[in-house]
Amino acid sequence: MDQLLAKIEQYKLEIQASSVGSKEELENFRIKYLGTKGLLKSVMGEMKDVPNEQKKAAGQLLNEFKLFVEAFYQQLSDSFEVSDNQSANYIDSSLPGQSLPLGSRHPISIVQNKMIGIFQRLGFSIAEGPEIEDDWHNFSALNLPENHPARDMQDTFYISQHPDWLLRTHTSNAQIRAMEKGELPLRIICPGRVYRNETISARAHCFFNQVEGLYIAENVSFADLKQTLYFFVKEMFGADVEVRFRPSYFPFTEPSAEMDISCLICSGKGCSVCKRTGWVEILGCGMVHPKVLENCGIDSNKYTGFAFGMGVERITMLTYQVKDLRLFSENDVRFLKQFT
Ligand code: DAH
Repeated sequence: MDQLLAKIEQYKLEIQASSVGSKEELENFRIKYLGTKGLLKSVMGEMKDVPNEQKKAAGQLLNEFKLFVEAFYQQLSDSFEVSDNQSANYIDSSLPGQSLPLGSRHPISIVQNKMIGIFQRLGFSIAEGPEIEDDWHNFSALNLPENHPARDMQDTFYISQHPDWLLRTHTSNAQIRAMEKGELPLRIICPGRVYRNETISARAHCFFNQVEGLYIAENVSFADLKQTLYFFVKEMFGADVEVRFRPSYFPFTEPSAEMDISCLICSGKGCSVCKRTGWVEILGCGMVHPKVLENCGIDSNKYTGFAFGMGVERITMLTYQVKDLRLFSENDVRFLKQFT
């Protein structure tokens, strides 16, 4: 009995000296002293060696010891809860914040905005038109009357419920709408989405974006057109890029031309992008056909004008050396996040 008493006193000292620093250590404490194979159980087991006449006093002693161990465990676990809570509420203001993922602009938007900015500096303002258009504004007013063979240059999506309606094939419809307002002189660019019934490939899509331009005033000449486009190309692609004009045909301009720039990929040496010619076509242009002016109520004896139109996808592909324009409409973030 005295021996048991001495042992218990010893254990009490040991327990009182324990401290725990984590939930894991708290659990280890519980297992060591209160577990099924723990110290308390083994001390209780010693009851059987105590002589009968002392059993009552020993039982009391052990009971007190049990309460002591349980209370101590409770105290440890309570103090632990508090410090746990404190750490949960604790804010370390010296830690760096979590950065939120930021989106980036679509490459088509980046390039289109740059194009718009260049023309705005030359005094052009933005004019927009509807994507669902009537035949007059997309074709007839542009000197493309019904059954004109040049309508086949642009494969058109028609709206089946309304034979006169279609998805615009170019943003020239916005030029017609601006001219019809009759406010002259007129200096506008028309950015926007257009649609054509083309087989989708690396180089063509059934929808794409254009920026068209129109300048109408007295005495506008082809020299003005060339100077405007030279300025645009140098601003867009840099001073070293070379430019050439080739005669072409559009029903709404006369004379008409297409403009090429020296290939940005191979600097004119010849590669697959320029089909080994060293030149890449970037736009169509010309002097506005007198018939188009008359169609919009403008006196073609008094006013002349130039117009041009280009595809934003083509310019973007050249700017960033993207080889497949389908990437622009697939919304793959791995592709899109590369552009800033
Ligand atoms: N509308 C033509 C196209 O989509 C491009 C174009 C050529 C626009 C000459 C013009 C222009 O305004 O004058 O292919």
